[in-house]
Amino acid sequence: MFGNGLYPKPPDLKLPRTQNLTDGEIFYIVENGIRMSGMPAFAGSGSSEDSWKFVYFIRHLPRLTSQEEAQMKSLNPKTPEEVQEEKDEEQFLNYGQSSGTTTTKKHMKGHQQ
Ligand code: HEM
Repeated sequence: MFGNGLYPKPPDLKLPRTQNLTDGEIFYIVENGIRMSGMPAFAGSGSSEDSWKFVYFIRHLPRLTSQEEAQMKSLNPKTPEEVQEEKDEEQFLNYGQSSGTTTTKKHMKGHQQ
């Protein structure tokens, strides 16, 4: 979402441009950022151990499984509307009934009524 408005655009970290960097180069970029771009410096916001974890994470990206991706998405912050929708869905699945407003509206979107 933020990347669309940036110049230069953030690269796809799975691709050779990034994967061909050495571990030390990736670590340096994470710690110091890239000047004249949107890439922030993360040194100071965590330990250098955290930056090494990013290096491992970036190395793993080309082999990310769909389960891992789903798990990451589940950890994203949720809006109050999304939290309510989840509750409605869970209630619907567990009890066969739902307070329903959010779920019904969302699922009817784009269908002829
Ligand atoms: C999870 C945190 C992040 C990590 C680990 C990370 C890592 C990296 C790395 C390793 C590169 C260099 C890759 C290459 O040159 O091929 C890069 C580039 C870049 N990142 Fe990040 N990044 C992070 C967050 C962000 C955020 C939050 C933004 C902006 C909102 C951002 C914007 C950019 C941009 C614009 C570049 C390209 C700069 C250029 O082409 O000169 N990054 N990032």
